[in-house]
Amino acid sequence: MDCYLKVYGCQMNSADARLVSKLLQDAGIREVEVGADADAVVLLTCSVRQHAEDRASGFARTMRGEGKTVIVAGCMGRLRDERLVENGIADYVLGPDEYRKIPGILLGSKDLGAVDGLETYSDLLPRETSGVSASLSIMRGCDNYCTYCVVPYARGSERSIPYDALERQIRHLVDKGIKEIFLLGQNVLAYKYHDLRFADILEKVSGIEGVERIGFLTSHPRDLDNDTIERMAGISELLHFFHLPLQSASNRILGLMNRGYTLDDYAQKVVRVRSTFPDAYVTTDILVGFPGETVQDFELTLGALERFEFDYAYMFAFSERPGTKALEMANQVPTQERQRRLMKIIEKQSQITRRKASGWVGREEELFVTAPAPRGEGMLAEMKNHRSVILNHTARPGDLVKARMVGVSGWSVIAEPAVKEVV
Ligand code: SAH
Ligand code: SF4
Ligand code: F3S
Repeated sequence: MDCYLKVYGCQMNSADARLVSKLLQDAGIREVEVGADADAVVLLTCSVRQHAEDRASGFARTMRGEGKTVIVAGCMGRLRDERLVENGIADYVLGPDEYRKIPGILLGSKDLGAVDGLETYSDLLPRETSGVSASLSIMRGCDNYCTYCVVPYARGSERSIPYDALERQIRHLVDKGIKEIFLLGQNVLAYKYHDLRFADILEKVSGIEGVERIGFLTSHPRDLDNDTIERMAGISELLHFFHLPLQSASNRILGLMNRGYTLDDYAQKVVRVRSTFPDAYVTTDILVGFPGETVQDFELTLGALERFEFDYAYMFAFSERPGTKALEMANQVPTQERQRRLMKIIEKQSQITRRKASGWVGREEELFVTAPAPRGEGMLAEMKNHRSVILNHTARPGDLVKARMVGVSGWSVIAEPAVKEVV
């Protein structure tokens, strides 16, 4: 039995793919690199926007047309359920808490076991990847119910992995050569296991031998408090990287979105992050065209991009999601207008992203080499704030190289090994 695993959606799905890979391996199912070579195809899907669903459905149909057995697993599986089978898109459908059933389905077992709605896959060890960086979900689900978002319905309620299990997974990865660990969750700041909170986890993980760098994604701006930022400052392994999704700069829209902060609250947190970590790399998510968003609301968001000067932003046009409150709201913005706003905001942020990239030129610091550069020569490397740069040098992944940022090509910062001045 040869299986092709295809992943859509967020980093949590990519991390889940390592767990599914392990389940396949343990069951003696071989993974292949392309769908055409497979007997069966497993899709880890995303439902956050319609586009993500359309891509997965299209691919699933093609694979079924070629006679493959198709399992649609993950968020779209949970939300669209057996209708996917009825509509000829899938042979089997599984939610994000049902990955353990995958080998059984592929091997034709009768007993697939029960679903645990509070699944954390804590006993599994992720299948190793080549490379020096790995990601682990420390919590699953979401209880925030932002009114546009499908994740709480797709992933279920919040639950955190027991710390001992996390440590076991991290030690396993470190043994395989991993040096950088990313801790993932829809809101890692909501981590809660007995009396352990997120800051405790960061401190504990930093104490694990072999963990040289720690990153985390995503943090809900509402839950980032000064105490956590202070404790983060005491962790030398921590990357100075903060992804803080703003979504909108209009307080009225933030209220309708149920985000739980105002623009002022948000601004205070960004200021605190930047004063604590002067080299912080700050990124955000922006959602335009939310129901009721006026041109004035949108202009506020455009202005906020200038004000906060994000290093990077992920920008989206509102997509109606079944089961969410926003779907029922009055004053839906016409699709064309959503697209117009999206284009405008992308244009603005592109200028800022480029400007911010140039801002690093002249800086000297130790870079962490991660992989060969995708195009041409040199290596990909990371600054302490996780900003990716292209290093014109031969080095191995995992190496630390003292370098100087010398220029920018597009949005990429170019670095060269720093030459010691001879006196
Ligand atoms: N948990 C993260 C976000 C996860 S979803 C957080 O709260 O910050 C990633 C991003 O997708 C969101 O930040 C939002 O900008 C976008 N998104 C979510 N639902 C969407 C929808 N219905 N339409 C368009 N974009 C959406
Ligand atoms: Fe969605 Fe909000 Fe949860 Fe993020 S915090 S996953 S946007 S409901
Ligand atoms: Fe998509 Fe599910 Fe992640 S909806 S964004 S894959 S949690």
